[in-house]
Amino acid sequence: MTKIITNTFNPEFLAKLKYKTPFFLFSKKKITGNYRKFKKLFPGSTIHYAMKANSEPGVLKTLQEIGSSFEVASKYELDMLKKIKVPAAKIIYGTSIKPASHIKEFFDYGVDRYACDSFPEIEKIAAITPRAKVYVRTIANDSGSVFKFSEKFGTDPSSIIPLLIRAKELGLHPYGISFHVGSQASDPKAWAEVLGILRSVLEDLQEMGIKLDVLNLGGGYPCKYTSSENIPELEEIAQYTLEQYEKLPYQPKLILEPGRGMVADTAVAVASVIARVERRGSTWLFLDLGVYNGLFETMAYQGSTRYPISSMRPVGDAGESLYALAGPTGDSPDVITREALLPQDVEVGDKLIVHHVGAYGLTTVSPFNGFPKPDVYFI
Ligand SMILES: Cc1ncc(COP(=O)(O)O)c(C=O)c1O
Repeated sequence: MTKIITNTFNPEFLAKLKYKTPFFLFSKKKITGNYRKFKKLFPGSTIHYAMKANSEPGVLKTLQEIGSSFEVASKYELDMLKKIKVPAAKIIYGTSIKPASHIKEFFDYGVDRYACDSFPEIEKIAAITPRAKVYVRTIANDSGSVFKFSEKFGTDPSSIIPLLIRAKELGLHPYGISFHVGSQASDPKAWAEVLGILRSVLEDLQEMGIKLDVLNLGGGYPCKYTSSENIPELEEIAQYTLEQYEKLPYQPKLILEPGRGMVADTAVAVASVIARVERRGSTWLFLDLGVYNGLFETMAYQGSTRYPISSMRPVGDAGESLYALAGPTGDSPDVITREALLPQDVEVGDKLIVHHVGAYGLTTVSPFNGFPKPDVYFI
């Protein structure tokens, strides 16, 4: 059951906003607060915000102003950073399989750090960006995460050294190792577990005369979407991770690539009820916001995101009941949840607040059925 666990955006304040729904509202203060928290809990680390989570210009500028670096996944994302004059030194190209034409654009801009996880990718990088710094992405145990990456990306730990050696042979700089524990991770020890495995890799590399500059802990830092989720605090994750980090034979600089953890809880979406319909024992509320125009992650794939949802209408004497919520398109997967607890007397025209929608909602909007991307505002 979906229950609200924070009240960051006050409903009375939201009710006064006369913007056309659906719209997204971000808090710049929350974005900078999250950035500071990562910096404080991982002292000395560099935070490369994974901009795939949200590339709204307002989000990028807020992070740029506070000093963030960026993890970038394509030349299209790079173009957004070029527009706001983020220097190449603050950018890493973090997808481990990349189109050659995109690598060339990063190289031309002066970006010199690239992820890789296979021999062909290293050859490709070397051919386009001589003397670049490469870091090898390895797999992680992502069984505790909602969205898993280690099927599609990452080499086995046993291939890290051969890949870094090949990079060196090709004139590249063996810069580091990266991994991703999966997005919305629930195991606070997931990052530490990988560092435990990497200990002997670092020792072996050192014996071969290769000392790495960085370890890239990737993303995965979770958002507490609902009170029922057993989600660790960042403090706990940092504690376990740094304990293992200290046990390494030496301490390469740490890079973190938070996406969700940086922006998920920094925004709400406001949507209107466009229909209330009884269907085979359930009450359905159709909204002007759904899977395709801002809530993509509610559509189950490997997992799905359960956003807390509340009503601007106060709970009256009739109390609350359970609703199924659907988006406005004609597609059957456009269902947000089947268990929203909202006031009994919700009507067409009422406004609902969807909480913690800052990550992966706006960057995954599709023009399906022609519904446009919602308007975006900042406070
Ligand atoms: C290479 C890389 N880094 C960081 C992230 C951000 O992950 P998260 O949003 O779970 O923090 C992703 C997500 O896809 C990624 O692919």
